[in-house]
Formats: sequence, C-alpha cells, structure tokens
Amino acid sequence: GAAPSGPAADGEQATGSAHAKVILLGEHAVVHGRPAIALALPHLRVTVVATRTTGAATLRTEEYAGPLDRAPDVLGPLVTAARATSEHLGCSPAGVDLAVRTGIPVGRGLGASAAAAHAIVDALVKLHGSELDEEGRFDLVQVAERVAHGRPSGLDARATRASGALLFRAGRSTPLPVALGTSLVVADTGVRGTTREAVADVAAFVERSPHRGSVLLDRLESLTLAGAEDLAQDRREALGGRMTAAHDMLSELGAGHPALDRLVEAAVGAGALGAKLTGGGQGGCVLALAPTPEDADRIVDALESAGAVGSWVLPPAASGAAPDRG
Ligand code: MEV
Repeated sequence: GAAPSGPAADGEQATGSAHAKVILLGEHAVVHGRPAIALALPHLRVTVVATRTTGAATLRTEEYAGPLDRAPDVLGPLVTAARATSEHLGCSPAGVDLAVRTGIPVGRGLGASAAAAHAIVDALVKLHGSELDEEGRFDLVQVAERVAHGRPSGLDARATRASGALLFRAGRSTPLPVALGTSLVVADTGVRGTTREAVADVAAFVERSPHRGSVLLDRLESLTLAGAEDLAQDRREALGGRMTAAHDMLSELGAGHPALDRLVEAAVGAGALGAKLTGGGQGGCVLALAPTPEDADRIVDALESAGAVGSWVLPPAASGAAPDRG
C-alpha cells in the first residue's frame, strides 16, 4: 500500500549533527594559502532530522517551512548541501523532510553554515543507509560553502567535524596537541558580519597594497605557527600577545569593526592575556584568553557590560584534541 505521510516509523528517520568552531589564529590569511588554527566549540551544535515522507522534498528551519526548491536565498547553502548529497548518493532529494535545529548563531564567524551543511550530509547519509568518508563529506560541504562564502578555504568544513584543535593548511588539517591550562572566552558583538564581504575586502586590500598585504599575511603566518607551539606548551602570555597582535593586523587588512575593538579592549581591560576577532570579522565574535580558568567569569562580565549579546567559555579540557564521531 501507499506509504503514510506525516511522522515516519522507526528506521525512516535519521539524525545528523555538527558543531561550531572558533579560529584561534590565521583567519583570512588561510584564504591566501597561509596556515590557521581552529578549535571546536562542541556545546554549540546544529541537529538535522531527516524523515522519509511522500511527495516533494521539504525543508524546515526556524524561519521557513516548505518545499526545498522554494526556500529563500539565505537558505541556499542548505538547499545545495541537500541536493549535492542526494545526487552523490544516487538518490532523489524528493520523499525527504529535513528539519534543521541550530544552536549556532548565524553570521558570527562560528561556522554555522558549514556545520549545518555537515549535519544535512550526515543525516542524509544515515537515512539512505550509505557510508561516506571524511573526504567525501568535506567535498559536499565545500560545494555548499561556495554558495555561502564564495571562496571558502575549507577551514570551516574541517573544523565543524573535528574535535579539539587543528592546524589547517591548503585544504588539509592535522590535529594539534593542546596543553593549554586555561579557558578561552567567546563573545558575540551582536553585529552580523558577512564572511563573503570580509574575504572580498581583505583580497581587495592585498591587491591594492601588495607589499603591505604580504607583510601582514606573512606576520599572521608566523603568529599562527608560533601559536601552535604556545598551545602545546601552555605558553599563555605569549599566546595572548599573539592574539592581540593578530587582531590589529586583521583590522588593518579590513576585517575589523568598532564593535570588535570595543570587546577586545573590554576583555584586555578585565585581565585577558589577549583578545581578537575570530572568523570572518566585520562583526561577529571575539575570542579572549583568560589567565586562569577562574578569571573567565570576570572577563565574561566585562564583555557583557561592554555590549556582548552572548558569550561562551571554552574550558581547558574542551580544547584537547580527540576524534569527533558524533
Ligand atoms: C571564516 O571562518 C574564516 C575565513 O578565513 C574564511 C575562510 O577560511 O574561508 C575568514
């Protein structure tokens, strides 16, 4: 008989998920072939429930519920992820409802678009009883990220699947050993930044001022490589100094915003060893390094008094590398 529409029976539903990320050092420079360090934010997640239905493909998010092919442009990356995955698996996108629930603020440099694409890929792979290796997943998420970002380095597509810390360069990532005995604080300016525009503005700076541009990109690369050693050896003061230096360079390259400067100053004023924008910038979040885990709350309070609309603490244990197979 005909399959029932509405809620599916057991086995006709699958859940996929992925998490947010922050970039410790190297954002933007990574688009220009330099290395970057990313850290998983495992407690901020996207979950996608894929359910077999009868009829056309449907997508449900907080702001939209309806046919996949009539979803608004802002959901383009998710639609692309669903279509590309179905095609890759040799399945029709029809007959599937995708319900997306995200706990990652969008447009804040936390990897919300890559995480949502991963969660869609994951849910569809499971629903169709298929298998897909990490490279296959990465490629599909990159197809969606091109819709979101224009020319994504692939850092977000790696970091929203891997846990712990990773060093990324030229499409590849390797886990980084972390012995950092203190907390990082992430705070949201509440200003929405568009990664695509920030990346284009930085590229325009480098084109306009090639000498200064390559000096800054080379310095960011040095900060990143030294920062990887700092993480492994718990050199907090040095790491904090590099973070603030990176913030100034990224601002000069065009990724800054007054709201970011305000939060960086507030964090350092409250005793942070260093602070910087994280991700695409021009809004979005800052990342601050607390001298000890006990100092994190004071830094959060200072950030919120200075206008942060949300904040998260990444405790020392959460920055250690471990495989993520959620
Ligand atoms: C965005 O999280 C990081 C950027 O470097 C862009 C990219 O790597 O694609 C700004």
